[in-house]
Amino acid sequence: MVLIYQDKNSGGVIVSNKKFIVANWKMNKTVSEAEEFLKRFISLNKNIDIEVAICPPFLCLEKALKICKESKIKIGAQNCHFEKSGAFTGEISANMLASIGAEYVILGHSERRNYFYETDKIVNKKVKTVLENKLKPIICVGETLSEREKGKEKEKIKTQIGLTFKDIPPEKISEIVVAYEPIWAIGTGKTVSIEECKEMFVFIKNYLAFEYGLKESRSIRLLYGGSMNEKNAKELLSVPNVDGGLIGGASLNPFKFTDIINQAESVAQ
Ligand code: PGA
Repeated sequence: MVLIYQDKNSGGVIVSNKKFIVANWKMNKTVSEAEEFLKRFISLNKNIDIEVAICPPFLCLEKALKICKESKIKIGAQNCHFEKSGAFTGEISANMLASIGAEYVILGHSERRNYFYETDKIVNKKVKTVLENKLKPIICVGETLSEREKGKEKEKIKTQIGLTFKDIPPEKISEIVVAYEPIWAIGTGKTVSIEECKEMFVFIKNYLAFEYGLKESRSIRLLYGGSMNEKNAKELLSVPNVDGGLIGGASLNPFKFTDIINQAESVAQ
């Protein structure tokens, strides 16, 4: 978690950075499989020293909230609709998620953008509803392989952040989490190089500071996602400005996910 406080001696602002690790289970695990995972995961992680959120399918949310109640593990959803209620067959609203005690909502994941035609404009509406319901959005942004090959990755990220952050009240900016997930790295076993990662995270942090102010932007947590696993987590999480990770495949196994948590704890300053 990023905590900002005043340094008594210098009067300057200091940022204490504990990593934030989020599991995105996607369309995996039945309620009983989720229960089995969570019980095992809690027993393996009695003294978590960083922030961890698990985002299971909607159907598992209530059970997950119940099981994790006494632990430090937070629970989030993977999507929601931008309207509060109404004739939207098959949808779930932010209001409904807030009513059961969920804390986070992943929004604008590239799978939702690709398979369900979500645009930045739709994601922006969802971000607003999520914030109005006192939930925290985890906004996913990322470039395709062809955009990266053409050197257009920064332009893409700038556009996605600009549009999904549009008209968000300044006092709400610090609630937002951004996950940079290069689309070509998701579920492929490929990741950005450490140099590419460094460059992108400096770019995003600078862009956020320029657009939304230094103080506000410093409390926006910036995660890396895309084939982060127990073999590369420490290296990726050690890159400056990487505040944590959004993990898909490797979060489905309680042992692998615990390994990642341990690595995140070891690099937390
Ligand atoms: P992955 O997924 O870790 O399986 O690449 C990450 C994500 O899609 O959020």
